Amino acid sequence: MADDNRQIVLAEIPQGKLAAHHFAVTQAPRPTPGDGEVLLRALYVSLDAANRAWMQGATYRSALKAGDVMAGGALAEVVESRSDSLSKGDLVFADTGWQEWAVLPARHLTRLPKLAPLTHLLSVYGVAGLTAYFGLLECGRPKAGETVVVSAAAGSVGSIVGQIAKIKGCRVVGIAGGAEKCALLERELGFDATVDYKAGDTRRALRAACPNGIDVYFDNVGGDILEACLFNMNNHGRIACCGAVSQYDGAAPAHGPRGVPGLIVTKRLTLTGFVVMDFYDQQAAALQTLKGWVESGELKVREDVIEGLENLPAALIGLLAGENVGKRMVKVV
Ligand SMILES: NC(=O)c1ccc[n+]([C@@H]2O[C@H](COP(=O)([O-])OP(=O)(O)OC[C@H]3O[C@@H](n4cnc5c(N)ncnc54)[C@H](OP(=O)(O)O)[C@@H]3O)[C@@H](O)[C@H]2O)c1
Repeated sequence: MADDNRQIVLAEIPQGKLAAHHFAVTQAPRPTPGDGEVLLRALYVSLDAANRAWMQGATYRSALKAGDVMAGGALAEVVESRSDSLSKGDLVFADTGWQEWAVLPARHLTRLPKLAPLTHLLSVYGVAGLTAYFGLLECGRPKAGETVVVSAAAGSVGSIVGQIAKIKGCRVVGIAGGAEKCALLERELGFDATVDYKAGDTRRALRAACPNGIDVYFDNVGGDILEACLFNMNNHGRIACCGAVSQYDGAAPAHGPRGVPGLIVTKRLTLTGFVVMDFYDQQAAALQTLKGWVESGELKVREDVIEGLENLPAALIGLLAGENVGKRMVKVV
């Protein structure tokens, strides 16, 4: 068969900021499924901040190496099946990597419903929506009337966290980069207040935006913003540690946030790290609830779709630079 499988390879492990020259476009033969396997065609590749973290070392998956096809999840269609559990035409979310065609064992894959628009399977009904849902409700445990702060608030996870906290009756403050993103959060997604962390002195701005202090902080970024939140937390506050995007795209930071562990002790804080997979046994109920909120209009879904497999490197570099509002993905077919 002709080499018709376009792939994006991680040509070099970045030591500093991720750049286009760390990637290369290659062609490979389309793979053939064996017994128990399926041939998948990637429709939409998900862009995730974690894609960059996988280049730094082992996380909840093994570290990427130079020369690997870039790892990543995609909404994919089964084109050929050698398994009884999936049929041609089925849709799945799969770790295809950044390529048009992939072969994977069917036993790791679950058939997805064919809902419209399909892109929601990668955003609100995918990892982003479930991360927001479980991280906020299971780790943050917000109560009506409390103040919830979320960072990377205009991103795919953050934009959903803020809206769920509003649905739960909380006062919601979003931290995002730039006045435009902050205005959008207040105008379109119902945030009560916002803090532009690029405008300087985040700690003071947070104090002004949260006159009653912070009860729940949903941390997507770590670093200086986590520090600013620690100083504004109320006694017995909860921090849901979701990710640390401020630490992904560069060399390791010189030191951690101040206030650790002193403020954790004196304010009796609970910091809970989680990975969305921890909660997959409760996934069906969560999806049902998310669906209800989307259909009633209480939860607005923001998506940022870029066309063309070859644009994946630029799309990830741009995500790390904060180009996106909502869930970023690349349409392959
Ligand atoms: N624990 C889990 O199971 C799980 C699952 C999925 C995702 N996550 C985590 O969720 C977080 C969000 O990831 P995502 O894939 O949904 O991406 P995203 O939020 O859609 O996009 C990343 C955003 O991070 C912000 N950002 C970049 N550099 C920053 C910095 N130095 N300081 C503050 N903000 C910065 C940018 O927005 P600005 O314009 O506001 O800077 C950018 O839009 C990440 O930490 C990721 O690792 C965790």
